[in-house]
Amino acid sequence: MDFDKLKSSRDADVNGKRVLVRVDINVPLQNGVVTDDTRIRAIVPTVKDILGRGGLPILMAHIGRPKGQVVPDFSLSVLQKPLEAAFGAPVVFADNKDGKPAKAFSDEMQPGQVLLLENLRFTPGEEGNTPEFAKDLAALGDIYVNDAFSTAHRAHASTAGIAAHLPAYAGLSMLAEIEALRHVLDKPEKPTVAVVGGAKVSTKIPVLKNLVQRVDKLIVGGGMANTFLQSMGVMTGQSLAEPEFHYQAREIMAEAKTHGCEIVLPIDAVIAREFKAGAAAETVPIHKVPIDGMILDVGPQSVEQLTGVLEGCKTLLWNGPLGAFEIAPFGEGTFALARAAGALTQAGKLVSVAGGGDTAAALNAAGATQDFTYLSTAGGAFLEWLEGRELPGVAALLQ
Ligand code: 3PG
Repeated sequence: MDFDKLKSSRDADVNGKRVLVRVDINVPLQNGVVTDDTRIRAIVPTVKDILGRGGLPILMAHIGRPKGQVVPDFSLSVLQKPLEAAFGAPVVFADNKDGKPAKAFSDEMQPGQVLLLENLRFTPGEEGNTPEFAKDLAALGDIYVNDAFSTAHRAHASTAGIAAHLPAYAGLSMLAEIEALRHVLDKPEKPTVAVVGGAKVSTKIPVLKNLVQRVDKLIVGGGMANTFLQSMGVMTGQSLAEPEFHYQAREIMAEAKTHGCEIVLPIDAVIAREFKAGAAAETVPIHKVPIDGMILDVGPQSVEQLTGVLEGCKTLLWNGPLGAFEIAPFGEGTFALARAAGALTQAGKLVSVAGGGDTAAALNAAGATQDFTYLSTAGGAFLEWLEGRELPGVAALLQ
């Protein structure tokens, strides 16, 4: 894909036009209250830019996976007020009540307003990417902008189908995500290092296979490291591991060797006998994990060694925690390495990009988020990018 051909929403003539903007405001909610507004903050520049140049933004989004059914708990109505506060502009919610069609809301829009459509996934045509639904959506506006990198791995009507019917642009947050990811994977300053952690190696085989071809060093942590260690004959006691993936782990190590990529595994571990907060923890060398012990974090010697690896590199890509960071005291290894990465970044020695799943939560808990060069808002899309796959939501903008 020629990403340089992506057209920025900033270059679209939006004055007096209705601009359909696909956003990802699938934010965590507790009792109707947004508990992390990162994704809302991410779309503010695009929406404000459109408003500022006389355009009429119509937001298309989803929450959760209602699977084509109207599920009131997944209504986007809860986001009307938080969005108004974020944009500093009135947000009209097209509630679909009393049979009033979205088209009527669109026709009634006034300059300065933002229109928020109801959860697109209440309609089966969204995930089914039906031509009818793509056309219905397109009929609401004049221009299409996709500012939702984190849904770009879905070929849905609002992320893919609609682009065939309207002039299509990438939003500012979408462009920032792509730029950051290209910087670390496609045109990095070398040497490069990737940290890949998380519980299961089975979910990240394609990611690891792609990364060993592209980075100089690959640090494997979390439960997935146990599978690698076991495949090399290390006894890991009661630790989480996937013995059925020993073969794949060995294959990845062989591929890494072919490509000159060094895989770095923990040399010591923090273990416990039970998996619960405050469980008695001890640190052991990686070859001395007792039969009834469970590896729950990397140990201090590993942190020292891994920090040294980071110090020798210029570009870092981080996905996934190194231990059970949600449960004290098993986050210390992840936190220490995240802080080291943040400090190197702030000292101008490292470009650091992180994303995917639990990564943001782990970096937030470490207090390191602000110190990284870039933190992606994407989960699944970030992983698919790391796998080297083409994302339909980006491809559609290049048709
Ligand atoms: C996400 O939360 O990663 C995006 O909103 C995509 O959601 P999905 O995995 O339900 O498609």
